[in-house]
Amino acid sequence: TDTCVLVCGGGNAAQVVTGLLSVRYKTIAVSFFADEAEKWKTALGNDSFELTVEGAAVNKIVSKPAGITNDPSVAKDADVIILAVPSFAHGEYFEKFAPYMKLGTIVGVMPARSGGDILFSSKMGDKAKDMVFVGFETLPWACRFSEWGRKATILGTKNTILAAVTPPTAKAKALGTLQGLLGVYPFIVESPTNLGISLRNPGMIVHPGVMYGRWGPESWDGKAKAEKPLDAEKPLFYQGVDDFTETVLLGMTDEVQAVCRKMERMVPGLCLKDACTLKQWYLDCYDGQMTDTSTLKGCMNTNKAYDGLTHPCKGEAGNYMPDLNYRYLAEDVPTGLCFAKGMAEILSLSTPTIDKVIIWAQGCIGLEIMVDGKMTGKDLAKTRAPQGVGITTPAEFIKLAKLETKG
Ligand code: NAI
Repeated sequence: TDTCVLVCGGGNAAQVVTGLLSVRYKTIAVSFFADEAEKWKTALGNDSFELTVEGAAVNKIVSKPAGITNDPSVAKDADVIILAVPSFAHGEYFEKFAPYMKLGTIVGVMPARSGGDILFSSKMGDKAKDMVFVGFETLPWACRFSEWGRKATILGTKNTILAAVTPPTAKAKALGTLQGLLGVYPFIVESPTNLGISLRNPGMIVHPGVMYGRWGPESWDGKAKAEKPLDAEKPLFYQGVDDFTETVLLGMTDEVQAVCRKMERMVPGLCLKDACTLKQWYLDCYDGQMTDTSTLKGCMNTNKAYDGLTHPCKGEAGNYMPDLNYRYLAEDVPTGLCFAKGMAEILSLSTPTIDKVIIWAQGCIGLEIMVDGKMTGKDLAKTRAPQGVGITTPAEFIKLAKLETKG
């Protein structure tokens, strides 16, 4: 076909998407990260990219991307742009593509994390009204490259995946086009709004919440123990969730629910049903894999999918220290939790639990986000807090999120 697709990034996900789409579409891989595009071009040379799909009938896909580049002007011919890169890098792609993109370009972001649509709108400027943003709740695959730039493997494909389209008028075309690109699986299930995807983001609760519960000032005196490494074992992440950590997680998820209810009251017709509580998310996504679903702690402690997963640690056995700069804080706080906190502040809702997690986490990751309990830190623009793009009132948010056009 004539469809031209850009795939952004150069890691596991971007390589897999490039390999998957190059077979059927004119696919150009774009990376703005350092000299990654040049490196990838060199690594692949004149050879084809080899994608292995575990468990599939046709389990080898051999293809060649139409190009690998760091030139943003390729966006002028793009019908679809897929971002398959960690969320801290999204803004750079939006900003560099903005001058070149043609009307109606569909921009699919997997995963979008929180507030991706707001960042997109603000970077697109005047063009925003003619562009389509599709936020995915997660990446459709578990995947890894096996030989960088040359070979990758899809370890598993989700059956279904939620995605929301802004503006809603572009829904049918955007989701149809993206489903065509992905193939039969995962089946894209439409979510009513990107605000729902943003506030659903389970990683923004689970990761910072469990890190705080184990390593925060209320449970681990980091200063006193900074010199004292852990025992030989890394602590279990999900199975290690205790009563205290559960109260932190419940506090955070409830505070996000209050944001949802207040937004729904403010915007007639707005439906944030997909932004469910964390416990509901477990019930929906891990049905049948947990032996105790009576409490949130039970869901996390007894989830088979989490068996044996440990806290991110640095150092070697006998010498482990928690890795407080891991993406569980470094990505999930700025591009997840900060969005929820920013929304709460705009809505004049207090969030004591989220606040204490952010205040602790910002020190761990070396960012200034909150000052004196307010979202006014100097690094706000590095986060997805709406305040980072100058939004401080519900009216401004509703406008930038294009929520008025609903219903
Ligand atoms: P990755 O860690 O392999 O991505 C690395 C890429 O990010 C680099 O190749 C580069 O293009 C970009 N990058 C790294 N540092 C950068 C910087 N300082 N500035 C600009 N760009 C930079 O990540 P992966 O595995 O491809 O995942 C992409 C997203 O999908 C992440 O948000 C991840 O959490 C999520 N995800 C990944 C899954 C997987 O199986 N790989 C499963 C579920 C979600």
